[in-house]
Amino acid sequence: MTNADQQPLAYQSGFANEWATEALPGALPVGRNSPQVCPYGLYAEQISGTAFTAPRHQNRRTWFYRMRPGAAHTPFERMDNGRLSTDYNETPTTPNQLRWDPMPLPSEGEAIDFISGLSTMAGNGDPHAQSGTAIHIYSANRSMTRFFYDADGELLIVPQQGRLRVATECGVLEVEPQEIVVIPRGLRFRVELPDGASRGYVCENYGAPFQLPDLGVIGSNGLANPRDFQTPVAWYEDVEGDFDLVAKFMGNLWVAKLDHSPLDVVAWHGNFAPYKYDLRRFNTIGSISYDHPDPSIFLVLQSPSDTPGVDTIDFVVFPPRWLVAEKTFRPPWFHRNVASEFMGLIHGVYDAKADGFKPGGASLHNCMSGHGPDAATFEKASKADTTQAHKVDATMAFMFETRHVIRPTRAALDSSGLQANYHQCWLDVKKHFNPEQR
Ligand SMILES: [Fe+2]
Repeated sequence: MTNADQQPLAYQSGFANEWATEALPGALPVGRNSPQVCPYGLYAEQISGTAFTAPRHQNRRTWFYRMRPGAAHTPFERMDNGRLSTDYNETPTTPNQLRWDPMPLPSEGEAIDFISGLSTMAGNGDPHAQSGTAIHIYSANRSMTRFFYDADGELLIVPQQGRLRVATECGVLEVEPQEIVVIPRGLRFRVELPDGASRGYVCENYGAPFQLPDLGVIGSNGLANPRDFQTPVAWYEDVEGDFDLVAKFMGNLWVAKLDHSPLDVVAWHGNFAPYKYDLRRFNTIGSISYDHPDPSIFLVLQSPSDTPGVDTIDFVVFPPRWLVAEKTFRPPWFHRNVASEFMGLIHGVYDAKADGFKPGGASLHNCMSGHGPDAATFEKASKADTTQAHKVDATMAFMFETRHVIRPTRAALDSSGLQANYHQCWLDVKKHFNPEQR
């Protein structure tokens, strides 16, 4: 049996707290984590996402109460990696600004699920070192009938087209474009596609789990508010059959056989759990006088590194917002950063580009590579009446920003979607300098 149809979808609100949830009354042991005998004949199993001795505010672990332990499967065997890669040495990393058209959706004749639909665009670091990140785009048209976990990293999934129903060991999350879902390292799950053909972006974070940033002088409210993160309640399926369990481990895909669904957790408690967040709830903060704050003001989630203030990966969002700064060039300015920036567009138009950056497309501006508004955007913004407020509306762009150079894969560089003329948008920027006219 399954309680998938009977149980209404419900969520708990919170972030990095301790949740406790049960799909059957009394399934969660009271007062101890591993009683001699668990209710309903369940097995107790702990999953730890941080070192046992990590500081309490960073410590993440969850206790599962499940029908069978996670170890109950045949040995893993190597399988084809498809379009996943962790080899960033295949080709010299280019300093050029890069931009891609949207990844095509699979044709009707193809059967591509979320796993086989993943294509690695770029990345850095190494799963072995638990440092760095990989950036993938998925393009799929079939719901998974197999199960997956990623031992290499946490997965931040940004749907761009089509909803996802993500069934996990902790429960079910339904997400639509303009929402994100984060799956912790190692958690087993299945992605279903209620709308059919779907596309989106994935940040695979090899480093520390994402967390909310400190707010400093902003105070106790603002940016992404903790109450808007939603974690599923316990849900299980009691299903037997022949299933594949696919693992991503040390950059490769492995497959084992299961005679049951691994989504058999009847109750759980802990803080190592998936969550979703609606980007439209982001509280956007900006200048109400002149100039811009740095784009870190758009930070949603961060994966801190061992260096204070320098993150392994930042997830940054550019939502609809009012621009009111007076006598100010309002779009993002020209810049070169030590950080490297991979951008995607979920919806609408990005305010620094007149054209060419399409929903489902992507751009990459690496360490110290100059970029910024294109010529048309510069000319328009230079003449704008800044005594009037302007609403940047109907847009949702985001950025994966890292401390390390984001190295595109050969497949991404050979892709027919790579725009050969992207650089032209800055060659068109006119020289206005006139020493006679101040
Ligand atoms: Fe930038």
